[in-house]
Amino acid sequence: MDGNGRWAKQRGKQRIFGHSNGVKSVREVVEECARLGIEYLTLFAFSTENWSRPEDEVNVLMKLLVTSLKKEFKKLAENNIVLKTIGNTAALPEVVQKELAFVIEKTKNNSGMNLTLALNYGAREEITQAFRSLAVKVKNSIISPEKVDQSVINEHLYTRNMPEVDLLIRSSGEKRISNFLLWQIAYAELYFTKVLWPDFRKEELHNALLNYENRERRFGKTSEQLNA
Ligand code: IPE
Ligand code: MG
Repeated sequence: MDGNGRWAKQRGKQRIFGHSNGVKSVREVVEECARLGIEYLTLFAFSTENWSRPEDEVNVLMKLLVTSLKKEFKKLAENNIVLKTIGNTAALPEVVQKELAFVIEKTKNNSGMNLTLALNYGAREEITQAFRSLAVKVKNSIISPEKVDQSVINEHLYTRNMPEVDLLIRSSGEKRISNFLLWQIAYAELYFTKVLWPDFRKEELHNALLNYENRERRFGKTSEQLNA
C-alpha cells in the first residue's frame, strides 16, 4: 500500500492526510475481497524499515492503526473475517498490541476471509528468525540437518499456515518489492499500478484481478504442457 504521502502532497496537505485516506482504501478493498470470496488478503501496513521515518509520522501511523481496529472491528465481524498478523508485533507499542490481541481473539472463530496485517514486518527479518530457530533445533538435535527442506523452512516463517501468494499488488508506480514476503512470492504474479494507494478502490482492485486472470501461470512448464 504505497503512495499515501504523495497523494497528500498533490493536494497541498500533510502526509498524515494521505494515511487517513489510505485507511478508506483499506476498508473498501478488504470488503470487496471478502465479497469476491478471496480467501487470503495480506496488507503490508508497516515495515521494519518504516521505523526510520520521522517520529511524528510513526506515531500517527500507530494511532491510526489503533483507531481503525477499534472502528472497523464490527465490520470485520459482519464480514466473517479472521484477523491475523505477520511480523515482529512484540516490538509494537503496547496499545497497538492490546488492540490487535483483542480483535484477533474476537475474530478467531470466523470462517470467512483471512485478513493478515504485516506489521513491523520485513522478509529478511522473518527469514533470519527462521534460520535462528532452526539452528537452535539442529543444535539440540530436535531436527537433523538432512531434514531441513522447503516445507520445514516454510513452517518456521510467519506465514506458516498460509497458502502460496498468487498475486502481489503494489500501488504508486514503484517497481520494487521492498522486503515483502521474499520467500513466498517465488511464483507470485506481480502487478504494479501508478495509482496512489488512497485512490486504489474497488475499480482498481477489479483491474488488478482481471489482469491476473489473463496471466498464464506455468510454474516452469511449457504452455503446451499446460494446454494438453
Ligand atoms: C504507504 O504510503 C503507507 C505506509 C508505509 C504506511 P507512503 O507513506 O509510503 O507514501 P509515499 O510513498 O511517501 O507517497
Ligand atoms: Mg512509500
